[in-house]
Amino acid sequence: MTLPERFRYAAVAERRDLLRAAAAAGGHPLGDAEWAATGQPAEALELADLMVESAVGALAVPVGIAAGFLIDGREIAVPMATEEPSVIAAATHAARLVRGGGGFTTGGGLPLATVQIFVDGAAGAASRVTAAEPRIREWVDAAVPALVARGGGYRGLRVRALPAGGMLKVEVDLDCRDAMGANKVNTAGEALRPLLERIGGGEVLMSIVTNASRHHLCTARFSCPEGRLARAGRGGAEMAERVVRANAVAAEDPDRAITHNKGIMNGIAAVALATGNDTRAVEAAAHLHAGRSGSYGPLSTYRREDGRLAGELAVPIPLGSAGGAVSVHPGARFGLQVLGNPGARALARIACAVGLAQNLAALTALVGEGIQRGHLRLHARRLAFQAGARGAEVERVAARIAAGRVDEAAAAAALADLRRPGR
Ligand code: MEV
Repeated sequence: MTLPERFRYAAVAERRDLLRAAAAAGGHPLGDAEWAATGQPAEALELADLMVESAVGALAVPVGIAAGFLIDGREIAVPMATEEPSVIAAATHAARLVRGGGGFTTGGGLPLATVQIFVDGAAGAASRVTAAEPRIREWVDAAVPALVARGGGYRGLRVRALPAGGMLKVEVDLDCRDAMGANKVNTAGEALRPLLERIGGGEVLMSIVTNASRHHLCTARFSCPEGRLARAGRGGAEMAERVVRANAVAAEDPDRAITHNKGIMNGIAAVALATGNDTRAVEAAAHLHAGRSGSYGPLSTYRREDGRLAGELAVPIPLGSAGGAVSVHPGARFGLQVLGNPGARALARIACAVGLAQNLAALTALVGEGIQRGHLRLHARRLAFQAGARGAEVERVAARIAAGRVDEAAAAAALADLRRPGR
């Protein structure tokens, strides 16, 4: 599709018209329903235009609530934004299992973000730069006065040569309070360039936040009586043993570990999205952590102790509850309000508990009856909708086909039968 030069500079409504015309001219016209769904309401379009360049619409992602979480003794209803069926149902199920064993306990998650500044030709200047720490601190704090006024700002410096490229790596930590911090540390990093060039004697190649997010490392734990895990004709002890074995498989096989961790991220990313956070930053940090030993492994661990199954998840979760999209998007504020407006650290810990719940739900389903049975029930509802069912028809058609063949033809036949006159 070829768009006219002025597309970028047009107002959002005109941009949509240009897009529609170009799509039609290219022989792939946009459908009426698709056109309408992405352009409403007007506020969403206006917000999209404010948030990204060349905006042409807004995509409504479903938001649901995983209820029943007990985290650090508090009852929490967790908003989750996801397009994947069964994620929220799975989290809710695991939350219920774990609350019977006392719920989740969480820890960690410092609100520190780190900027990396790479100074070319300054590999030999590590000690000079380290000795200039007081001036670096001054420059950093001067670059982010509003943050300093809120109690944040400079917190530390690390300097290391990268000898292969003759580069000096300077890392500066900032306390970003309740912001995720990428913008703040990028501002500080760029402000430091002239100072570092003067001290180091080289030229700054680049400066940017590191998504390693090491300070954001959070933990969540639970310990659940094995009896609660009985399922699919298997006793609780057997199920617990199978979960432990499934975790061991992930520890031995990276191709399984990535799927295991993807399930964990189903929960964490859904909380991140529901609160307007950067889901890619969260994913990047998690997968680096999963490979920290040199071989990629599972983020969670499980063990059996005294008739209980104990699970633990440790993962960096860089989230913010202020600043960025969080402060402009009412949907993000909605998510935070549902959570009782937590600070960034508390939010990350909640997400960590949800990630562990998601993992427990996936593993117990996988080593129990398999995941397809649960998925199919939700899939049946989608098929019913696609076949034309609306309102109460959706449930009724889904219920009919869920017991047998779950496909488009079955949904269409069930709907036709439901609507048959005189039934
Ligand atoms: C699906 O989105 C997530 C799972 O594949 C996770 C897992 O296999 O552990 C079910």
